[in-house]
Amino acid sequence: MTESKSSHTSTAFNPNWKRMLTGDRPTGALHLGHYVGSLKMRVELQEKIDTFVLLADLHVLTTRTEDLHEIGGNIRECVLDYLAVGIDPAKTTIYLQSLVPEVLELFWLFMPLVGVPRAQRIPTLKDQVRDLQLESASMALLSYPVLQSADILMVKGDVVPVGKDQASHVELTREIARRFNQTYGREVFPEPDAPITPVLIGTDGQAKASKSIGNVIMLSDSPEAVEAKVRTMFTDPNRIRADIPGKVEGNPVFIYHDEFNNDRAEVEDLKERYRKGAVGDVEVKKKLAAAINRFLDPIRDRRAGFAAKNGFVEEIIEAGSARAREECHKTLTDAREAMGLTYFRGAEGLQVSK
Ligand code: TRP
Repeated sequence: MTESKSSHTSTAFNPNWKRMLTGDRPTGALHLGHYVGSLKMRVELQEKIDTFVLLADLHVLTTRTEDLHEIGGNIRECVLDYLAVGIDPAKTTIYLQSLVPEVLELFWLFMPLVGVPRAQRIPTLKDQVRDLQLESASMALLSYPVLQSADILMVKGDVVPVGKDQASHVELTREIARRFNQTYGREVFPEPDAPITPVLIGTDGQAKASKSIGNVIMLSDSPEAVEAKVRTMFTDPNRIRADIPGKVEGNPVFIYHDEFNNDRAEVEDLKERYRKGAVGDVEVKKKLAAAINRFLDPIRDRRAGFAAKNGFVEEIIEAGSARAREECHKTLTDAREAMGLTYFRGAEGLQVSK
């Protein structure tokens, strides 16, 4: 094997990037952790390069066989959140994985390139089995990152901004791309970079904001819900009275102030008084709730506007999936040609039935 080019893991824009692909499993509406961890960078990148965002509904099946009827509603919520934060369907191709069934063919072409022990070493596999208390990993769960690789490489994505927990999947994608190109002697696939996006701390001070833990503020939360959640937020546990000097660093309330409060002077003033023991938690939290609500207000308005447009989400998914399907078809033709799998296909290759 030739050496891997080193992966750029910085989120700073790299002018070599041509195409971004990233996505979410549609397990529900999105929250502030998603905003900090991925949505913000998607909105920025769509101005610069061709961008794809997929709703990975087939990936949901790797850990769930129940309540699958909920997936449809979740997809809708996710798309509304995307639109609300400014992902623009004129610039970003938003698509549904299961409406591009060809991705499963590419997935299968990749499967022979990945050894079972290699797949078993992916850290998220053990984490999922433990967290979801599964008796064992299914074949689908074992091959989860191979399907993710097919998602990325079907559009020849060369940049995949992901959280740290997903980095091992993009690393496998790089290996698959490299191995494919070497095995079949053509540079069909790029080795994508994985800029590692920031993680937002949970409102309870846990390392990560996660819906399953319940320590999150949803993008679609009402102003009252935001106030209630901020009121119970974890702060400096050693500060039992307002006149005791408090710690700002690592304090969730100030991390959220830094992230979401656009009134920088207010944040600096609060920090200074907090360090001196000259402000109560109540004031710090009231101002934080107001700041988050200022941040969320336009998002809520746009969300409501899009939700009221009949058939709009459906149209976006349909158009995006048609575009993604075309890309996948082109890539499959390249892959099959490199592999010599062109028999019985005619000069044009197998046509996509419409
Ligand atoms: N595994 C990702 C997650 O759980 C979702 C996903 C599926 C994805 N396919 C992808 C992310 C391709 C980036 C690129 O968050």
